[in-house]
Amino acid sequence: MSHIRTITPQELDLQREYGVRVRDWYEARFPGKSPLCCVRTFGCQQNVADSERIKGMLSSMGFGFTERTEEADLILFNTCAVREHAEDRVFGNVGALKNLKRRRPGLIIGLCGCMVQQEHVAEKLRKSYPFVDLIFGTHVLHRLPELLLRVLEGGKQVIERPVEDGVIAEDIPVRRDGGAKAFLPIMYGCNNFCTYCIVPYVRGRERSRDPDRIVEEARQLIREGVKEITLLGQNVNSYGKGEAHGVDFPELLRRINALEGDFLIRFMTSHPKDATPRLFAAIADCPKVSRHFHLPFQSGSSRVLKAMNRGYTREQYLELIRVARETVPGIAFTSDVIVGFPGETREDFEQTLDLIREVEFVSLFTFLYSPRKGTPAASYPDPVPAEEKLRWFQEMNALQEQIAARRLQKMVGSVRRALLECGEEGVLEARLPENMVVRIADPTDQECAAVGRYARVQITGARSWILSGKIVGVEP
Ligand code: SAH
Ligand code: SF4
Ligand code: F3S
Repeated sequence: MSHIRTITPQELDLQREYGVRVRDWYEARFPGKSPLCCVRTFGCQQNVADSERIKGMLSSMGFGFTERTEEADLILFNTCAVREHAEDRVFGNVGALKNLKRRRPGLIIGLCGCMVQQEHVAEKLRKSYPFVDLIFGTHVLHRLPELLLRVLEGGKQVIERPVEDGVIAEDIPVRRDGGAKAFLPIMYGCNNFCTYCIVPYVRGRERSRDPDRIVEEARQLIREGVKEITLLGQNVNSYGKGEAHGVDFPELLRRINALEGDFLIRFMTSHPKDATPRLFAAIADCPKVSRHFHLPFQSGSSRVLKAMNRGYTREQYLELIRVARETVPGIAFTSDVIVGFPGETREDFEQTLDLIREVEFVSLFTFLYSPRKGTPAASYPDPVPAEEKLRWFQEMNALQEQIAARRLQKMVGSVRRALLECGEEGVLEARLPENMVVRIADPTDQECAAVGRYARVQITGARSWILSGKIVGVEP
């Protein structure tokens, strides 16, 4: 029995009132000066999308934004729990704020997101991190104004992390910073309970947004000049399941594709057990849907897949790839894979290598298994030593690098359509539909000014996994 709740307009009105009181609180103490907040995101795209809503709410409460913790009045970390490394990074960053807090007692430090949704983490923060003022879980994001006001007025640590199936909150202000690219959440939560994964515990049950709202939001984004929309969900292929409106993911793709304008639709993530010929047909029919498919396989061994509770075999996965390639010629695959799942043997691992060779992914996100407290796999016998797992991990990465290098080499000389972006350190880059990036060598000022537009790009070189190229022409 599901207990998904849609947040009512009345509840949101109430939050807006709390927001006004937060604004007044700062105005009364620091007249004419906007408080500054520093919001950092540690997780996946879903977390980035949540942070855009957090920033939207903060902006309407009168906050300005800064990247520098030293000058912030409010520091908020939106956390991830998917691997131990992600959690360690957060604890490291929070620990580093202790001194800052001592020097500036008025500073408010907050933690939210997946990590703090876990009971044992909240407990640890309560006991050992008294200088963290505000802790809130994934189901109460929309109540940020209320919780912040409680901190300002009460001065005590506020912890709010109800354990529930989840909520859907519409009409929260959004402050996007993706430029020509935008994330559009279509559903939340996960019902799959892969045995290694913490996400279903911290994100609640699967719930889909109303299709009309999604299409309307896409229309609005396109009107604002967005060129690439990424539809988000832990398993977008189960969009609409159990909903009365009857719109499934392929149908949603078709509806967004039908919107007017020149834009690209991406989506993340697809679960192989729910990817269907109907979906491939929709991709083939919709010119605005990117010919790129992120389809995590996790392991090439059917035995391990079963222990992971993935719901498909190696053979079924490979068949899916075959049908997709047949239906959508030229489709590019990327994937996620885990090395060192409890009980994985050398033979299992070699089947993973074999699958990587067979499919030839454009790129792979590779992870060393990380035990997550409360998940079934965390208590499975795990005899392979960490050093051995690390060697396998390196072996797999080396194989994928070879494959990627070969694929990239084949692209040299071709001319492709790509979206111009400003990459790290201000380098001009062009993003291909399969999500690969071409670095533009020695761009002119005019070319740099074309960020956010499409261009025809000639690929001139490939070094390991980086393509370089030059612009042949920019579209208006
Ligand atoms: N919903 C997506 C994945 C979200 S998590 C899907 O099912 O494909 C992103 C990736 O992190 C997963 O695909 C998996 O490869 C990896 N991952 C999740 N839990 C992990 C763990 N405990 N240890 C190592 N990697 C993990
Ligand atoms: Fe985690 Fe599996 Fe759900 Fe993906 S499908 S979020 S890996 S439980
Ligand atoms: Fe991490 Fe939560 Fe995403 S655990 S991967 S931020 S859903």
